[in-house]
Amino acid sequence: MLNLMDKIVSLCKRRGFIYPGSEIYGGFGGFWDYGPLGVEVKNNIKREWWRDIVYNRENIVGIDAAIIMNPQVWVSSGHVEAFSDPLVECKKCNHRYRADKLDSQVCPDCKGELTEPKRFNLLTEVYIGTTEEAKKRAYLRGEITQGVFVNFSNVLNSSRIKIPFGIAQIGKAFRNEITPGNFTYRSREFEQMELEFFVKPSKDTKKIFEYWKNERLKWYTSLGLKKENLRYREHAPDERAHYAKFAEDIEYKSPFGWSEFEGIHHRGDWDLSRHKLKYKDTNSGEEYTPWVIETSGGVDRSTLFFLLDSYYEDGKRIILKIHPRLAPFKAAVFPLVANKEDIVNKAQEIYRTLKKSGIIVTWDDRGNIGKRYFSQDEIGTPWCITVDYNTLEDNTVTVRDRDTTKQERIKVEKLDEYFKNKLDGDFV
Ligand code: GAP
Repeated sequence: MLNLMDKIVSLCKRRGFIYPGSEIYGGFGGFWDYGPLGVEVKNNIKREWWRDIVYNRENIVGIDAAIIMNPQVWVSSGHVEAFSDPLVECKKCNHRYRADKLDSQVCPDCKGELTEPKRFNLLTEVYIGTTEEAKKRAYLRGEITQGVFVNFSNVLNSSRIKIPFGIAQIGKAFRNEITPGNFTYRSREFEQMELEFFVKPSKDTKKIFEYWKNERLKWYTSLGLKKENLRYREHAPDERAHYAKFAEDIEYKSPFGWSEFEGIHHRGDWDLSRHKLKYKDTNSGEEYTPWVIETSGGVDRSTLFFLLDSYYEDGKRIILKIHPRLAPFKAAVFPLVANKEDIVNKAQEIYRTLKKSGIIVTWDDRGNIGKRYFSQDEIGTPWCITVDYNTLEDNTVTVRDRDTTKQERIKVEKLDEYFKNKLDGDFV
């Protein structure tokens, strides 16, 4: 019997969500490639996040900083120093401990076997320069965050935002993880979606922290993650990252246990002070170093958890009940039979019209209708449109709902409006 994780890994490979990276050369530990359906889910998650964090608010702007920065950034941020402790990692649950702070020979959390201590820097080194002699060591960013801090003054000087305000970013980060594992959960290359929210230091910062913590959990549930599979977990003081005054994780109840996939961090003035950056209030002239509340989510971990959370079986039927806004295709169009020219032409016309109007649709004319439903359910397509003999008479089609399997007859000219209503006014 396959467990849920094996089923998801198999579905991802079989249907084109996620493949092992460089697979034809035997793969490469901790690297994954997203296929035609996976890239859609991932893009949908990122689009929804950007909409919620940037477009739906008034005091947040976005940036897209370079992956490779002046190596001094990582010295100032503390990552060069703080990521080179001697570490051991549990081979079972991947929890990592400072070797010098651990009294036990086994993992304190799950009693799993520990790796040998290693002086370990999570930053991935790269060498930049044209000649061997002139090559300079730099790093692939270990968190996307530093790109925001080094552009703090640029953003302030080139826009009209004032404290409190936020800078949002989505992008790739790289960590030389000792033991990548649990499919994409712990990768060496992954994507983060982060907000750095700058505030004037005060006692009220805790309230802002609570606000963002709630907003982020609400966002996940609004896109269908089940409440009972989510929880917050506060970091113990010795577990916090070097920059954090205070931190809480949002965890998901995964097949491999409760697992972090977003961190809410009170970074205080750690980063701006280290980069020697200040804020000047243009009204009062007051100058100070703002505090930062950060929400840092993993796009790959979210993708994995959205897939796990939406996986259902009904006998042999697999249904991915993923939120329609995250589904790779919103609808599939079928001609009832593939050998009747009138029906195929009409179905093609509907398919092309929907595509033109911006709705992401797919086409399927293989096998019988039952098999096509089966195939679309497995990849989470919320609605299937069948063009049949009646369509030629009265210009109506059957629309079948993935979750209820109920069918209704809809006028072709109303399809656009029908999907717009279902998708809260937006097609993508
Ligand atoms: N800027 C803060 C920061 O990077 P973090 O808790 O180290 O904080 C934030 O990372 C999120 O990035 C995690 O909650 C997770 O979703 C994602 N992440 C971190 N390491 C990862 C890895 N090795 N593989 C996949 N995702 C990872």
